[in-house]
Amino acid sequence: MRIVMVGSGYVGLVSGTCFADFGHEVVCLDKDPAKIEALRAGRMPIYEPGLEALVAENVRRGRLGFGIDLAAAVAGADAVFIAVGTPSRRGDGFADLSYVYAAAREIAAALTGYTVIVTKSTVPVGTGDEVERIIREARPEADFAVVSNPEFLREGAAIDDFKRPDRIVIGAEDARAEGVIREVYRPLYLNAAPILVTGRRTAELTKYAANAFLATKITFINEIADLCEQVGADVQEVARGIGLDNRIGAKFLHAGPGYGGSCFPKDTLALVKTAQDAGTPMRIVETVVAVNESRKRAMARKVIQACGGSVRGKTIGLLGLTFKPNTDDMRDAPSLAIVAGLQDAGATVRAYDPEGMGQARALLPDIDYADDPYSCAEGADALVLVTEWNAFRALDLERLRTTMAEPVLVDLRNVYRVQDVERLGFRYAGVGRASGGGRSEDRDGG
Ligand code: UDX
Repeated sequence: MRIVMVGSGYVGLVSGTCFADFGHEVVCLDKDPAKIEALRAGRMPIYEPGLEALVAENVRRGRLGFGIDLAAAVAGADAVFIAVGTPSRRGDGFADLSYVYAAAREIAAALTGYTVIVTKSTVPVGTGDEVERIIREARPEADFAVVSNPEFLREGAAIDDFKRPDRIVIGAEDARAEGVIREVYRPLYLNAAPILVTGRRTAELTKYAANAFLATKITFINEIADLCEQVGADVQEVARGIGLDNRIGAKFLHAGPGYGGSCFPKDTLALVKTAQDAGTPMRIVETVVAVNESRKRAMARKVIQACGGSVRGKTIGLLGLTFKPNTDDMRDAPSLAIVAGLQDAGATVRAYDPEGMGQARALLPDIDYADDPYSCAEGADALVLVTEWNAFRALDLERLRTTMAEPVLVDLRNVYRVQDVERLGFRYAGVGRASGGGRSEDRDGG
């Protein structure tokens, strides 16, 4: 099949590359000529494990190309995916659909023969209807269908998620269009990925419901973590205790500094707006958004408390800046609010991140950057583990402690065992694990 991907951001680039890897002929487009030049030269605009090699392999096999000429690519294509950005609109938080509609207009002008236009970007309910209207108005005679096919991949695990999805959702209004998208995903049938065919609006809403539910699950366990700290319980044990119930499930129950990234913050906000506009406010999701926002700021206060109530004049080392490991993405990362809170309280911040420092430098120009975790800790009054990169899971704690001015470790991802760290002479603060929480032999370090 001939597939065009409009937009070579995270979702577009990963999806396009994986479609090529399935054996389809794919062109990934972008408005930014510099990005396309870089991709043609084999340089990835994002850090995503395995992507560079998969791109190279499929370019070499002649199945994957990059371009800026939408008209040339769309003519004769079987399926055109729209994977452009849908950022939060300044002011009201509603998804900004101007890029999606601009893409629809350009695609309309270039259509030849039966083409299925697919929204892969996360778009509010009714966007597919509007895309269809735009194309129909521009080209009343064109032979096309508009389908919703939301993408559920996670950054850092994008290729694996794409190739081994829990499900594929196809929101199609007719059987012919459904057939084209089924054909696109046919190689995945071998992996027995369930395919859910729904109406277009249902598919659009499914994506928001999934992200909002996951964000709610995280926020729920984060609030349980706060309670654990007050009552002397251990959130990790609570999470395990509830997660073993199949009706709840064990995933997305890791308490931490609050969710960030390119999807949850934006999509929860957009769902809140959609629901308000529809006259059915989603009070749970509204609360999730508010609780998560204040949580990120509260993490700075947690650090200050661990430092004895003040960080004025102190140096705080941050391990990890990205919103999660295995990405260089800094969008809505909790580290941004934590740094701001610490600086407002008079601290000097130094940070190290394996991949995120490039993006971070633009957003956090006035902090110091270290070359590795150990130099980050040197002379610091506290070390804060913000992102659970593997590189931070087995640090030489003894070595860290000897270089630090004060042995304070604030572990916002609960990577370390309280007793291990305390045995080495650290003062330790995790999330939802007040000392006095676990069993007594754990507390005693035995
Ligand atoms: C998410 C969805 O998982 C994916 O299906 C959708 O397509 C895009 O949004 P992503 O943002 O890449 O993917 O990362 P994810 O692994 O879901 O983590 C999101 C945020 O939640 C991160 O800040 C992460 O640290 C946080 N999180 C996740 C927790 O705090 N606890 C958890 O248990 C899980």
